[in-house]
Amino acid sequence: MTTQTDLLDLLCCPRCRGALDHAEGPDSLRCRVCGATFPVQGGVPRLAGESYAASFGRQWNRYDVERPEEDEATFLVKTGVHPRELAGQLVLDAGCGGGRYTKLVARHGARVVGVDLSTAVDKAFALCEGLPDASIVQADLLDLPLAERAFDFAFSIGVLHHSPDARRAFAQVARRVKPGGRLAVWLYRRNTLPQEWINSALRAVSMRLPARVLEPACVGLALLGGVPVLNKLLNKVVNFSNHPDWTLRVCDTFDWYAPKYQSHHTVEELKRWFQEEGYDDLQELSPARSGRLYDWAYGHDLVIGSGVNVVGTRTNRQGLE
Ligand SMILES: C[S@@+](CC[C@H](N)C(=O)[O-])C[C@H]1O[C@@H](n2cnc3c(N)ncnc32)[C@H](O)[C@@H]1O
Repeated sequence: MTTQTDLLDLLCCPRCRGALDHAEGPDSLRCRVCGATFPVQGGVPRLAGESYAASFGRQWNRYDVERPEEDEATFLVKTGVHPRELAGQLVLDAGCGGGRYTKLVARHGARVVGVDLSTAVDKAFALCEGLPDASIVQADLLDLPLAERAFDFAFSIGVLHHSPDARRAFAQVARRVKPGGRLAVWLYRRNTLPQEWINSALRAVSMRLPARVLEPACVGLALLGGVPVLNKLLNKVVNFSNHPDWTLRVCDTFDWYAPKYQSHHTVEELKRWFQEEGYDDLQELSPARSGRLYDWAYGHDLVIGSGVNVVGTRTNRQGLE
């Protein structure tokens, strides 16, 4: 995978929005307008530094979380689209992490650009090796250096709530979609007040811990995640993953406690964001799990780590500036 010419047509300078080119050779990009230069390291254009997202760089480079069958099922549930329906389309993976969904979509014949702030882009690039239609870019969604109204489909799975301004990040992604194109977003659901208080108190401590301390704590919580019954009750108070796969269980638990930013949202709020950015045909997507007890707990906002998930179509109307 190289920095394809068509990728340059999509990228712009994060400082002045000018066009970029390879004026100083393949390992650097230069803005034709302001002259700023940006490295291309390990095949990845670096248009932003890692900033607050270092824990993600660590986690995605350390844990191998690609599970092709599960990823395909999750993608369908969280976007409402089977990846094969995206063949031939230009797709944006906004916050690609280690690249599991970027790869999935490229394997099904789409031209896809995966963007992430952290060094997870290195893992994503490695995962997408051999897929010429996948490109990975290190950039900030809060000021996204990509052409507006360019993508047929954009998706963002579990990302925007990890920025200091989820609404702004949403707008930046929403404006990269063509009129008539679709956008799917999954965000953490706001739980009941007592759950939110407990979680905020725990995370106020956990996100300040060094990884060498936090990670063993997450391993301990992941052990609880394997204890039948307890693993479905206790995590309504203190969150931990109960995924059957050990690696995913540890990684998901670290993913909850390590990040600096984590905001929780309601479906009404997310739908309003879509409308404000000029989207209609909104559809709320249901979670993969179901069952009487789960549906009851989910409907009462008791499932910590569950989502609010909406997909919509961009109209020709301009969104709010
Ligand atoms: C929980 S991970 C989800 C990754 C991927 N969507 C997945 O489901 O495998 C959240 C990702 O959002 C990225 N992220 C957070 N803030 C960002 C920003 N402002 N710009 C780009 N990426 C950001 C993090 O670096 C991290 O990789």
